[in-house]
Amino acid sequence: MEAKGNISPNLTAGSARQYQPYLEAEWGFKNSWYPALFSSELEENQIKGVTILGREIALRRARGQVYALDDRCAHRGVRMSLRPTCLTDETITCWYHGFTYNLRDGILRTIVASPDDPLIGKIRLRTYPVAERAGIIFVFVGDEEYQPAPPLEADLPIRISDDKNAVAHILDEQAYVRGIHRRGNSNWRLAVENGFDPGHLLIHWDNQIIAATDRNLGLGALPVTEDAIKIIDEPGGPKGMMNMYNTRAYKFFGENREIGLKARGKKPYYARTSVFLPGLLLVEHWPAPGWAQYEWYVPIDNRHHEYWEVLVGRCTSPQERQEAEYLYEHFFEPLALKDFNDNDLFAREAMQSFYEQGGWERENLCAFDDATIVWRKIASRFNRGIQESPHRRTIHS
Ligand code: FES
Ligand SMILES: [Fe+2]
Repeated sequence: MEAKGNISPNLTAGSARQYQPYLEAEWGFKNSWYPALFSSELEENQIKGVTILGREIALRRARGQVYALDDRCAHRGVRMSLRPTCLTDETITCWYHGFTYNLRDGILRTIVASPDDPLIGKIRLRTYPVAERAGIIFVFVGDEEYQPAPPLEADLPIRISDDKNAVAHILDEQAYVRGIHRRGNSNWRLAVENGFDPGHLLIHWDNQIIAATDRNLGLGALPVTEDAIKIIDEPGGPKGMMNMYNTRAYKFFGENREIGLKARGKKPYYARTSVFLPGLLLVEHWPAPGWAQYEWYVPIDNRHHEYWEVLVGRCTSPQERQEAEYLYEHFFEPLALKDFNDNDLFAREAMQSFYEQGGWERENLCAFDDATIVWRKIASRFNRGIQESPHRRTIHS
């Protein structure tokens, strides 16, 4: 048996009580920015409904601008996104009886068949701050009183400055951004923890990208020094942690002699991973050198998350852009975002029933899980609030 790593004992020691807020965050962390849709998924005058942290939100684009409002009509509670009805550029109309709300402040502006109704101007739908950047529509989900919303940058990865071949940041002007999102059938926390898990490489052992590139990712890594995990606490900026891979701080295991298992591939390839509040991952130089993979695990409800896989490259000319598109379509999406990450999704979904039945108290974490414990503590400390369970409707799995 390997000796337990000795990183920051104050951060890894102790029991679940030391990250109690995290254990309570079944529905996610509120007062944070989450991706809702790619820009290309919401055309002019389209209305689409999303669910984030258990809140149903309608998104509409009008004159190019995206607006977000509660997606339950104040009249009799239908989701307005079920039958998008856009009658003016300033309003959203419920398709059922025509309650019509201002997009900007959510106030009831008129009712189609009761234009002098006393309710007009008196009731409203809640609105949400929206930021559309890098081809993604982000919504700030949380308490209405939490104002002003922090800048989007505070809920994105840090800019990398300690690497001369640093990957581009998603908000850089030259960033090339492409990706997919899909539903994952597990609690969002199982998804985050899988994203940077230093001990989970067995599930990637035989993946297509390993075979195609002859890479050796090892079987897993064990943090062994105090600085193996760096805490990120930028004033007014991102909070999270970075696994300092590829340094003396981690011990990599390429082989387990006990059972005669060896990692495949000849070329050692370690990708540094970081995780940030409210729950997003950065993998540098993946799926190829110079690229970065971002992943968001957006809580839909307590049993489902929206799994966002976004690649960020850097393109300075139309030729580079063409090449990036070629790589994305024929290599990155099929081999990395799909085949490789399909295994991650499978693993998270496989954990769900255990954690739904008290697994948080019954798990037996081992040495490489120190990274997971550090994350749970950081998340407990830096979150801007725990989303309460809605309790107002049944969640069907
Ligand atoms: S339910 Fe929307 S107008 Fe009646
Ligand atoms: Fe993985």
